[in-house]
Amino acid sequence: MLLEVKNLKTQFFSDRGVNTAVDSISFSIEKGKTLCIVGESGSGKSMTSLSIMALVEEPGRVTEGEIIFEGNDLLRKSEDEMRKIRGNEIAMIFQEPMTSLNPSYTVGFQIDEVLKLHQKHLNKDERKIRVIELFEEVGIPLARDKYNEYPFKLSGGQRQRVMIAMAMACEPKLLIADEPTTALDVTIQAQVLELMNDLKKKKGTSILFITHDLAVVSQMADEVIVMYRGHVVEQASKEELFANPKHPYTKALLASIPIPGKVKRKSRLETVDENVNYLDFPKEIR
Ligand SMILES: Nc1ncnc2c1ncn2[C@@H]1O[C@H](COP(=O)(O)OP(=O)(O)O)[C@@H](O)[C@H]1O
Ligand SMILES: [Mg+2]
Repeated sequence: MLLEVKNLKTQFFSDRGVNTAVDSISFSIEKGKTLCIVGESGSGKSMTSLSIMALVEEPGRVTEGEIIFEGNDLLRKSEDEMRKIRGNEIAMIFQEPMTSLNPSYTVGFQIDEVLKLHQKHLNKDERKIRVIELFEEVGIPLARDKYNEYPFKLSGGQRQRVMIAMAMACEPKLLIADEPTTALDVTIQAQVLELMNDLKKKKGTSILFITHDLAVVSQMADEVIVMYRGHVVEQASKEELFANPKHPYTKALLASIPIPGKVKRKSRLETVDENVNYLDFPKEIR
């Protein structure tokens, strides 16, 4: 296993009390595999990924559990050690790439910085060639001209490609993608997802892919966990989950989202019911 998350609990503390965003969840990711976390907004998906990266901000914090990455518990690492792991062993792609790209530097410069750190054998000229190659690999048109562009001059799809190029430049063992294509139109979304699948195939990168969209899950996942109110209510392989969903919440999610050729839209009664507490049903971990 590349990553094993055990009984992870992440809580927020305020005068009004304690809010448990992630409630004792466990899962693991094998080398070269994709685990999807699916769930509605507010179910704790982003807090799970931020917990792994040690990026949860006050008043939130991880209060219990273990995050075993290549045999070591990340929760025991110092801030310095974590900084080295982020963007080195573990890379992240967010929904809005502007939050990860520095608006003051050209995109070429920013990838060059990553190569400087991670491909130390390359000299300046070789790095420039490599940056342009990476831009070409992720399908950025006129790659050579884009080297000197600032992030705000690029489209959303192009910025997301720059983020993937950056992830490829550091060749992480784990790529965490938190709703990376939600802001993109459908065609561009499909291309960006395909790129991530290429990276997985070529480099054996493991992917933690977060989405609220079951159609995307069907395109990306090997394993799937379904989150609801901070809990994992079901875990299964992608095939099992779509063919034979067991938990009432998973069934409701599947019923509410039409997937062509897979699941037909059912009556509204079978979609997620706000008045039902789905935690009343037993968890389905396979
Ligand atoms: N700053 C905060 N203060 C208190 N609770 C928070 C804060 N940020 C997030 N949470 C809690 O964490 C829960 C999960 O959030 P998040 O992981 O962002 O959900 P998702 O990514 O699945 O939409 C939220 O429903 C909320 O209760
Ligand atoms: Mg989120």
